Amino acid sequence: MSTARRLRIPGIAYGGDYNPEQWPEETWAEDTRLMREAGVTMVSVGIFSWALLEPSEGEYDFSRLDRILDLLHENGIAADLATPTACPPAWFFRAYPEALPVDRDGRRLSYGSRQTFCPSSPAYRRAALRIAKALADRYAAHPAVAMWHIHNEYGCHNAACYCDTSAAAFRTWLRTRYEDDLDALNRAWGTTFWSQWYYDWDEIIPPRATGAVPNPTHQLDWRRFCSDELLSLCTAERDVLHRAAPDIPATTNLMVLRTFDALDYWRWAPELDILSNDHYLMSDDPEAEIDIALSGDLMRSLAGGPWFLMEHSTGAVNWQQVNRAKRPGEMRRNALAHVAHGADGIAFFQWRASKAGAEQWHSAMLPHAGTDSQIWRDVVQLGADLRALAEVRGSSVSADVAIVWDWDARWALELPAQPSGELRYQDLVRDWYAPLWRAGVAVDFVRPGEPGLDRYKLVLAPSLYLVTEAAAANLARFTERGGTLAIGFHSGVVDENGHVFLGGYPGAFRDLLGVVTDELFPLLPGETAGLSGEVPTGATADLWSERVRLTGAQTVASYADGPLAGHPAVTRHHHGDGTAWYLATHPDQDTLATLLHHVRREAGVTPEHEAPAGIEVVRRRGTEADYLFLIDHAGKGAEAPADGVELLTGTPITGTVTIPPGGVAVVREPR
Ligand code: GLA
Repeated sequence: MSTARRLRIPGIAYGGDYNPEQWPEETWAEDTRLMREAGVTMVSVGIFSWALLEPSEGEYDFSRLDRILDLLHENGIAADLATPTACPPAWFFRAYPEALPVDRDGRRLSYGSRQTFCPSSPAYRRAALRIAKALADRYAAHPAVAMWHIHNEYGCHNAACYCDTSAAAFRTWLRTRYEDDLDALNRAWGTTFWSQWYYDWDEIIPPRATGAVPNPTHQLDWRRFCSDELLSLCTAERDVLHRAAPDIPATTNLMVLRTFDALDYWRWAPELDILSNDHYLMSDDPEAEIDIALSGDLMRSLAGGPWFLMEHSTGAVNWQQVNRAKRPGEMRRNALAHVAHGADGIAFFQWRASKAGAEQWHSAMLPHAGTDSQIWRDVVQLGADLRALAEVRGSSVSADVAIVWDWDARWALELPAQPSGELRYQDLVRDWYAPLWRAGVAVDFVRPGEPGLDRYKLVLAPSLYLVTEAAAANLARFTERGGTLAIGFHSGVVDENGHVFLGGYPGAFRDLLGVVTDELFPLLPGETAGLSGEVPTGATADLWSERVRLTGAQTVASYADGPLAGHPAVTRHHHGDGTAWYLATHPDQDTLATLLHHVRREAGVTPEHEAPAGIEVVRRRGTEADYLFLIDHAGKGAEAPADGVELLTGTPITGTVTIPPGGVAVVREPR
């Protein structure tokens, strides 16, 4: 939260989505009393309240929201006031049925849920900006309002609309991208193949359902367009809010989640005063704590410092096949892990569990059972924990390692008709992230073309299928100047239009890596290849292999069997003053950890702190002190060397701190 518009509430903000419209007003007094008991300092209000705020077009009723905001203020609770634009009312769609989105198959969707509108609809944009302005004008000076919450999770349910209005907007976007040069678009999309050449801009439509594989660059540009189209709605609302209240920071809740990839958040991040994230655990993820850490580090990197956890859950969600409750202590570990990775605010969906409606089976801070419940006791405990950590606010993590993260590369890798349909961008990145996380090594995320990479000792690019020549040169420069770089398989293969760099893979990185690949050999599901060399005995690889020839690099490991037996699988190349490693396959987790350990040692990267296995270690660095977070995910408890004060218990520490089983310790380490 490093921008000029700062959140003016102290410490680590604590709260959740507050939807009191669901309850009779008598309940509200109990809500605020219990919020105070739990130490809640800020709640998000009004997120889905459009239908109640604007009962008919242009006619407003702010009386209920007035009372809610006044009540919050009387109780010393700040409001993160939302524009309600994620859910237009039924009257809107009856008046403007063309604003309903159309899916890939040409079906127009109906209202009756939420976020069902066409992002390019002029009627929607007009209506959204009008209610945003009415809200901003009315509440800009309300003493409860500490932050604006623009919309809700842009693109969660309507990342793409395929209607004719969207088609026209897409064409406008393309004319800007290709500077009105249709031949340039044809070249970029490779439309000489399969008779796809366009003679008129009006021939271009969204990538609607087709009988065979659609044009890949068409799809790539479509994804870029969809992200930009929603961003333009967000910035338009932001501008309305800023005009009314120049000092109040504006945020929108992003979703840096395994399951969501619609928006290029590198483009979104600079547009927001404060970056917020929503993070939910997947029931089938046995190590969801790694996902929390990864998303937290990515958020911190997008924000360039602390960020805000706008939503997570106290217990089960209601949108998976089976919705797992959290284990004892898990909610506290989750929340404090977000803080460890840079969150300066912790909030939940939602304050009070709904009795009715689409999310009646979603956990909340105050469950159906009321205050005589484990969740409520945990919520109160967490409030106390966050108060004890107030001074952590504003501190941040500093890392010697950067992982390259890129939405373009992610979209391109997962297009259809690729060498393997088994590659999942986020899994590939997480595979490399996990061993560093286990070792307690701090990590930032960077764009491939990020300037100033020299501040890192080690840069990792686990998956960079698509890369621009400029970004490839940026990574090469980092190595030439003495950095250590490691690149994962099938990277540097295509340019920003998805065109293959010719002359052998990994085209953009051939010289840097000192290798050339003439043919790809992706492995079938379940198939493995043995590895030998500087790898543990019995090492294997799956998912991917390719026939690599050395053109300057040395072999670190080769295939021990299969069609590529004897060919290099992992290589290392001196380039300029540095070293570039190529992991041309997908080694098993132990082997990958061993290899990354070698890479890390060569780069001179050490863990943040010594801690036993099973303990997550993160250090936030402040101006006067550092804060060492130790989180026990193994459930056994542990001791770790530390000196200072353990903040959660207020205990002075000399020499050793105890982390209780399944618990957390946060040590203030004086400088
Ligand atoms: C999203 C939404 C919330 C709620 C939660 C449930 O994050 O923003 O309104 O639906 O999911 O997990």
